[in-house]
Amino acid sequence: MEADLHYQFPPLIEPSELAKRVKALAGEIVAALGTEPIIVVALLKGAFVFTADLVRALSQQGISSEIEFLIASSYGAGTYSTGQVTMHWLGKSSLAGRRVLLIDDILDTGLTLSKVKEQILKENPASCHVVVLLDKPSRRNVQMTADFVGFPIDDHFVVGYGLDYAEQHRDLPYVAILPPEARSSGS
Ligand code: IMP
Ligand code: MG
Repeated sequence: MEADLHYQFPPLIEPSELAKRVKALAGEIVAALGTEPIIVVALLKGAFVFTADLVRALSQQGISSEIEFLIASSYGAGTYSTGQVTMHWLGKSSLAGRRVLLIDDILDTGLTLSKVKEQILKENPASCHVVVLLDKPSRRNVQMTADFVGFPIDDHFVVGYGLDYAEQHRDLPYVAILPPEARSSGS
């Protein structure tokens, strides 16, 4: 554990591991896509931290990005999902003919990313690749794979580095498994 950091929860992925993996991921993306400019579509709110780090790593490795944001949320209470996803763009450039890199925090059931990717493909981009920081393959219930994955993880509910529990803990600079005592107690 990094000695100089205060950890509210035991870290699953520490800041230094995140930084190292994001840099390596940028290298994998450059190796696969080349260095022509891309247009990033980042899903809010969860992907905001990962996106900020990844686009800077990509820039350092020679890919420049335009950045668009999309608020995507799936209907349904708790862990139950009805299969519908609402999407709201914050302004938007045309994606036609563009090289799109779709970024999310975590690939869980796959519903959100599969619906968003489907919408993006309707705009006839030149390409659409998906990158996620975390992947929980055991939770998948629609067919969806990411082209680039930061860390595959087991089926735990995680927070930090953009990921929330009831809008809390997005600001943690590391990823942690949400401890049972931190659930629905308001803490
Ligand atoms: P999917 O549509 O089931 O793949 O869900 C993706 C979304 O669910 C992510 O973008 C997150 O907002 C949320 N999510 C899934 N698993 C977790 C988790 O472990 N912690 C925090 N949010 C999660
Ligand atoms: Mg969320």
